[in-house]
Amino acid sequence: MTTILAIETSCDETGVAIVKKRKIFSNVVSSQIQIHRRYGGVVPEVASRQHLETINHCIIQAINEAKLNWDDIDGIAATCTPGLMGALLVGVTAAKTLAILHQKPFIGIHHLEGHIYASYLSQPELMPPFLCLLVSGGHTSLIHVRDCGDYSILGSTRDDAVGEAFDKVARLLDLGYPGGPVMDKLAQTGNPFKFTLPEGKISLPTGGYHPYDSSFSGLKTAVLRLVEKLKTQDSLLPVADVAASFQETVARVLTKKTITCALDYKIPTIAVGGGVAANSGLRQHLQVAAQEHNLNVYFPPLKFCTDNAAMIGCAASERLSRGYSSPLNLKVQSRLSITETTQLYN
Ligand SMILES: Nc1ncnc2c1ncn2[C@@H]1O[C@H](COP(=O)(O)OP(=O)(O)OP(=O)(O)O)[C@@H](O)[C@H]1O
Ligand SMILES: [Mg+2]
Repeated sequence: MTTILAIETSCDETGVAIVKKRKIFSNVVSSQIQIHRRYGGVVPEVASRQHLETINHCIIQAINEAKLNWDDIDGIAATCTPGLMGALLVGVTAAKTLAILHQKPFIGIHHLEGHIYASYLSQPELMPPFLCLLVSGGHTSLIHVRDCGDYSILGSTRDDAVGEAFDKVARLLDLGYPGGPVMDKLAQTGNPFKFTLPEGKISLPTGGYHPYDSSFSGLKTAVLRLVEKLKTQDSLLPVADVAASFQETVARVLTKKTITCALDYKIPTIAVGGGVAANSGLRQHLQVAAQEHNLNVYFPPLKFCTDNAAMIGCAASERLSRGYSSPLNLKVQSRLSITETTQLYN
């Protein structure tokens, strides 16, 4: 009774998937990256229009690929927060329309809950409690996942999200958009110890540094200054070394904070989610450190790190099986804390 057709349109990927618990019947993702690339970032109005163009095709494709019909679907889900308002509205309106048409419950899902559930899709044995390191274009959070809907935020960023920092540094190195994947590739050919960059420590009034919160704007500015200095020199800009040194610093900082948090709170399992979970440097650092401290760490496969509807369907399947559904007048919200998901349900 928990087969879900799920829709994800919070940013620049139109996703439709059919999922039952951790089993995926179909997972269609239509990326708008090529369209936004020429602007150097996501243009919200363009994103909404593109979702509108694509959504019906994606729904039909997801149904066809799953080889199911509407009788087999128990609920219709969509990401309803956080994200771009116009973009969210397209997915939520499509989901509500299908729910009315086929007389199925509608389930609104918090986008970050989707990123948390991405780990379940590939790890049949993963069960809460665990610590989720959520690293994406808009978030850098350490979330204690106690159960479905029972989350507390133990750490977050004071300024830029880590994916945003990757994108901004890539832009100043003229590497295009989105920056993360190209920086990662380039970093693998550079020397990660060539340049020493600041770790963005946050001082506490009581002395010492905040153990779990992060800050990336100082690091980003340090790279800007470094690049300006290097450009005054005659030799070619060592782009790969800059990318590798940046990535090394980010991976080291995030690993230190995650491991400290897991040990302090005695949480033996870490699951990483969001686009930056694809990063090879972060994967390497965290895997080594987790092993040293006898912790388990799980990374979703790359296709579940960035936005997709399978993760939304997985979360919605769990929600519906526990009796949660959303009112048909549920509004989209550009921001909502992951700790406030109860307001999405009847
Ligand atoms: N291999 C990689 N290394 C580093 N960053 C990466 C990599 N692959 C993708 N990213 C970054 O991940 C981000 C996109 O991730 P995601 O789709 O989860 O974010 P979002 O949906 O825009 O934000 P949010 O989920 O917070 O709303 C981009 O900033 C991109 O540069
Ligand atoms: Mg996302």
